[in-house]
Amino acid sequence: MAYAFDDADIDYLCSDVGVAALRETEDRALTKASMLSDIAAVRAAHGDMTAAIVETTRLRRKARSKLVGAENWLLTDDAVQQATPTLVARRRARRLAGRAVHDVTCSIGTELAALRSTQGVVVGSDLDPIRLRMAAHNVPDANILRADALTPTTRETVVLADPGRRAGGKRTHDPSALEPPLPSLLDAYAGRDLVVKCAPGLDFDRLGWDGEVEVVSLDGGVREACLWSPGSTPDRIRRRASVLQSNGSSFEITDSESDDIDVAEPGEWIVDPDGAVVRAGLVRHYGARHGLWQLDPRIAYLTGNSVPEGVNGFRILDRIKYSERALRQALAARGCGSVEILVRGVDVDPALLRPRLKLRGDVALSVVITRLERSAAAFVCAARRPGGLDHGE
Ligand SMILES: C[S@@+](CC[C@H](N)C(=O)[O-])C[C@H]1O[C@@H](n2cnc3c(N)ncnc32)[C@H](O)[C@@H]1O
Repeated sequence: MAYAFDDADIDYLCSDVGVAALRETEDRALTKASMLSDIAAVRAAHGDMTAAIVETTRLRRKARSKLVGAENWLLTDDAVQQATPTLVARRRARRLAGRAVHDVTCSIGTELAALRSTQGVVVGSDLDPIRLRMAAHNVPDANILRADALTPTTRETVVLADPGRRAGGKRTHDPSALEPPLPSLLDAYAGRDLVVKCAPGLDFDRLGWDGEVEVVSLDGGVREACLWSPGSTPDRIRRRASVLQSNGSSFEITDSESDDIDVAEPGEWIVDPDGAVVRAGLVRHYGARHGLWQLDPRIAYLTGNSVPEGVNGFRILDRIKYSERALRQALAARGCGSVEILVRGVDVDPALLRPRLKLRGDVALSVVITRLERSAAAFVCAARRPGGLDHGE
C-alpha cells in the first residue's frame, strides 16, 4: 500500500526542519538491503515524520526519469504514475503558447510546471486537496483552486484535462469509466477550447470527435492520444502524430499532408513506422513524405530503398511464402542463432514460434511476417539497427 500523505505531513515537509530532513535523507541508499537501517536512522532523528520523509525521498528518485526539475517536489506514488512525462507536457505547452490555460485535473502540477514557461495565466484545479497542496508547493506561481472539473470555474481559458482511472480500477478504454468521465467533460466544455489527454488505447474513431486527435510517442512508446477541440488546433487538422525522443529530436506529421503512395513490390528495406504514426492512421502520409511505398494497403509496414532518420528499418535478405518449415530452413541456411520476429496481419505468436524454429547458429537476424494480399509472407532481414543507423550501407 502506498503511503497516504496528510496535511500535517505537508506542513512538515514544507517547513525548514522538514526540508533539512529531506536533504539529509537524500544521502541514504534506501535500497532493499539498507532500508531497515536507513529507516531506523531517520526515525532516531525525525521520529513520527519518518514515513513521510522516506517516501518523499523514494518518490523523488522514482520520478527522476519522468519529471524534469522535480528534485524538490512533493509527490504521491499514484500521482507520479499518472503524471505526464515532462517532455510530453512541454510539447503540449508549446502548442498552447500565448493562451491562458486552466488545467482542471492538475494533480501535483506536472502540466502546470510545463505551462508556466510559455503561458501568461496558468490556473490549476483538482478535487484532491493533498495533491493541490503539493501542486502549490511544486509550482508556486500557478493559481491553484479546489474545484470539480465538471463545473467550469474560469472563462476565456483553454481548458486542459487529463481524466484518471478510478482508484484501484483496471486499465479500461471505456471513456465513461474515467474520472471525470470523458463524455461529461466534453459536455461541460462544449463550445470551449478544450484539450483532453487520453490513454493511447482510446477508441477515438468511435468517439465521433470533430477536432484533432494527436497521438504522442516518447522514445518509441506511444504515451497518449490527446483531443484538441476545433478552436484549439489550426486548419482543421484531424489527426497528428508527434514523435518525441528524450535526446530532444522530434518530428510530427498530420493528415494535412498527402497520403498518395503506391502499393508495390518490396524495395531494399522494410520500414516499421513509429507507433504514434501507426496509431494516428498516418502511415501512408509518412510514406509519402519519405518516398516509401506499401507492401499491402491494409498493413502498416512500409518499404523503400532507404530508411528515414530515427525509424526502425530492416534490410531484406530473403523473401519466402510463410510456413514454419520454410522459415526454419531459411534461417538455418543463414546460420541464424537468434531472431527478432515482427508480425502484422497474420495470426502468428512470436513467443510460440521462436522455439519451434530450432535456431542453432550464431547469426542474429530479424524476421518480418506479414500479410501480402491474401497470403502470408516472411521477410528474413538483417538484425534491426534502431533508428535506421545503417542507412548508408
Ligand atoms: C491523471 S491525473 C492528472 C495528472 C496530471 N495531468 C499530471 O500530469 O500530473 C487525474 C486527476 O484528476 C483528478 N480528478 C478526478 N476527478 C476529478 C473531478 N471531477 N474534478 C477535478 N479533478 C478530478 C484526480 O484527483 C487526479 O489528480
